Amino acid sequence: MPNTQDPTPMKPFIAGNWKMHKTAGEAVAFAQALAGELNAAQDRDIVIAPPFTALHAVSRSLAGSGIKVAAQNLHWEREGAYTGEISAAMAVEAGCSYAIIGHSERRKLFGEKDEEINRKLKSVLASGLGPIFCIGENLEDRDAGRTLAVLGSQLRKGLDSLTRRDIMETVIAYEPVWAIGTGRAATPGQAQEAHAFIRQTLGKMFDAPPAGIPVIYGGSVSPGNIRSLMEQPDINGVLVGGASLDVDSFVRIVNFDK
Ligand code: 13P
Repeated sequence: MPNTQDPTPMKPFIAGNWKMHKTAGEAVAFAQALAGELNAAQDRDIVIAPPFTALHAVSRSLAGSGIKVAAQNLHWEREGAYTGEISAAMAVEAGCSYAIIGHSERRKLFGEKDEEINRKLKSVLASGLGPIFCIGENLEDRDAGRTLAVLGSQLRKGLDSLTRRDIMETVIAYEPVWAIGTGRAATPGQAQEAHAFIRQTLGKMFDAPPAGIPVIYGGSVSPGNIRSLMEQPDINGVLVGGASLDVDSFVRIVNFDK
C-alpha cells in the first residue's frame, strides 16, 4: 500500500535557457546528443529553451525523449500587427510545453514592465503552456537591503489576478540579476532565503501554502555548485544559462545527484 503520510517529493526541474545561441542545425545536433545521454530520465523534469528559429526542429528531434521545449519569450496577443513578435499559439504549434516570461534580460535590455509580463503570463496560461516566470533583484537593490521588497513587488504585479489553478501550472525562477552570467552564483543560503520568501508570498497571495509550485534558482549555476543549491529545502530546480550550452556540462547538472 502506498504511504499516504509522506507527500510525494517534487521532481527536480532542470531547465536550460540558451538565450541567443545556436542555429537550428546546431540546436538539433545538440538536442539529439542530449537525448542520447538523458533518455528515459523520468525522475526529473528537463526543459531546454532554444531560440525561436530552432523550436520546431528541436521539438521534433526530442519526440519520445521526455525532454521538453520552452520558448524564451512570447507576445500576449494571439495574432496581429506586432512585427517581430511570436504568440503562445505559435509556440504551442512549434511543440513547446513551456515559455520563459519576464527574464531579467527582457526587463533590462528590452524594457519589459511588470504589467506586460502579467499579460504575457495570462496569455501563456490560456494557451496551455506552463510559464517559467522569472524574478530577481539587481545588485543595487540587494546592497540597499531591498531584495525581498523587490521580489514581493515583482510577484504581486506579475501574478496579479491569476487564479490558484493558474499558479499551480506556473514555475517561478528566482534569478538575482547580479548572479547572471557573472560566475558569481548566489550562495545556497542567499538563494534559500529568497526561495522561502517566494513560497511564503505565494502562500499569502493564493490563500494556501503552494507546496506543489516549483521554485527554481538561476544565475551562474554550474556542475560544481548545483548540488549545494539543490540541498536547500525550498530550491526545486535550476534555470541554467551558459552551462546549458555544452552537452557534457548540462548532463552533469541534470544528473547532479547520480
Ligand atoms: P547563467 O547561467 O549564464 O548565469 O544565466 C542564467 C540565466 O539567465 C538563465 O535564464
